[in-house]
Amino acid sequence: MAIINIAIDGPAGAGKSTIAKRISKERSIVYVDTGAMYRALGLKAVRSGFDPGDAARVVPMLPDTDVTIEYRDGAQHIILDGEDVNGFIRTEEISQAASVISTIPEVRVKLVELQRALAKNQSIVMDGRDIGTYVLPDAPYKFYITASPEVRARRRYLEYEEKGTLDGRSFEQILEEIRERDYRDSNREFAPLRPAEDAVYIDTSEMDIDTAVNIVLERLKV
Ligand code: DC
Repeated sequence: MAIINIAIDGPAGAGKSTIAKRISKERSIVYVDTGAMYRALGLKAVRSGFDPGDAARVVPMLPDTDVTIEYRDGAQHIILDGEDVNGFIRTEEISQAASVISTIPEVRVKLVELQRALAKNQSIVMDGRDIGTYVLPDAPYKFYITASPEVRARRRYLEYEEKGTLDGRSFEQILEEIRERDYRDSNREFAPLRPAEDAVYIDTSEMDIDTAVNIVLERLKV
């Protein structure tokens, strides 16, 4: 069977991972969450007491750092130096650490190698920030999913409230965190967040998730 790669990019909270997981299920292809890989490295830096933006400390850590992914019951688990760290990477501290560490080119080179290897031998739907522009520029299907910062912050706020991880933060604080991450992810030098020229652009600000999933599915000839 032919290998089909689907690239889904966009800023935090746009609905990328929800859409990518639905596509993965509908088309029985593997979902790869690349943000989790940056989060794992951010976690390692934080645990080591490093500033994740301090390249002089982060870069020497890379050769001794092993990041792999495994699938259990269809869900991606990120394995950092042999430890399943899925339960530790979804905090706001690690979101910011991932965004900061991802500006270091050596970090990106290491993870992009792993991402390309995953896409080489199997069909995948991969989400991130630079999949269509840098990781898999030849992917036949590219989507850029976005929404206004206010809508994305609202979704995050409700998600944290439901999970009980709001930790007393206000909507304005969440909005500020989203803006901070957008700015950093879009303005770094190496492979910044931006839509690929040939990506289908989907603004989900006033769209429910089913509509967005259907727009993607309609485009796929698989
Ligand atoms: O998708 P996410 O929120 O889990 O990603 C966390 C951070 O990792 C994001 O703010 C920037 C970085 N990232 C990246 O630079 N490139 C990717 N392909 C995926 C994530």
